[in-house]
Amino acid sequence: MLSRATFPPDRAAMEAWFGEHEREWREGRAYRFAVERGGRVIGIVDIDGVADGEGDLGYWFEKASWGQGYAFEAGSAVVRFGFDVVGLRRIRAGHAVDNEASGRVLEKLGFSVVETVWRESVSRGESVEVRRLALERETPREVRWRVE
Ligand SMILES: CC(C)(COP(=O)(O)OP(=O)(O)OC[C@H]1O[C@@H](n2cnc3c(N)ncnc32)[C@H](O)[C@@H]1OP(=O)(O)O)[C@@H](O)C(=O)NCCC(=O)NCCS
Repeated sequence: MLSRATFPPDRAAMEAWFGEHEREWREGRAYRFAVERGGRVIGIVDIDGVADGEGDLGYWFEKASWGQGYAFEAGSAVVRFGFDVVGLRRIRAGHAVDNEASGRVLEKLGFSVVETVWRESVSRGESVEVRRLALERETPREVRWRVE
């Protein structure tokens, strides 16, 4: 979600991005959720780049709401949505190595590190060390009913 974002944000680009959400959802390309608190949007969690049973998880919260468990709680719900409702097999994610909070969110969600690469960051205007991770859908566990 944030990999192509500019900083400071460009209003026209943001409006175009929001304007695409409904169509992306209908076409099964991206599923984007607003996290609301007290009638106000405090963050966004999404899965985009959906193709071939895989998609990319992203999240962003306003600074005043950091450190209160929102990213983990909303991230868990969106991961479940991706596997159980969309039917994805694998969800990818990534974070700048120096973004410890994002790394911790993904670690808590159960993601495993795939690789570490250097990528050009549009918002930072420099090359950044990025950790790429993935989470596979669990194969359904066999449920045994025990008759007393
Ligand atoms: C990254 C971000 C989404 C985290 O959101 P958050 O709601 O603060 O995260 P949570 O409160 O759910 O915290 C999840 C874990 O990260 C830890 N954490 C939070 N901030 C941290 C920090 N600055 N350094 C290290 N760990 C941190 C929390 O303690 C928690 O772990 P714990 O349960 O073991 O204590 C938020 O900081 C953000 O929106 N940042 C700007 C956008 C961004 O970086 N998006 C991700 C791009 S890859």
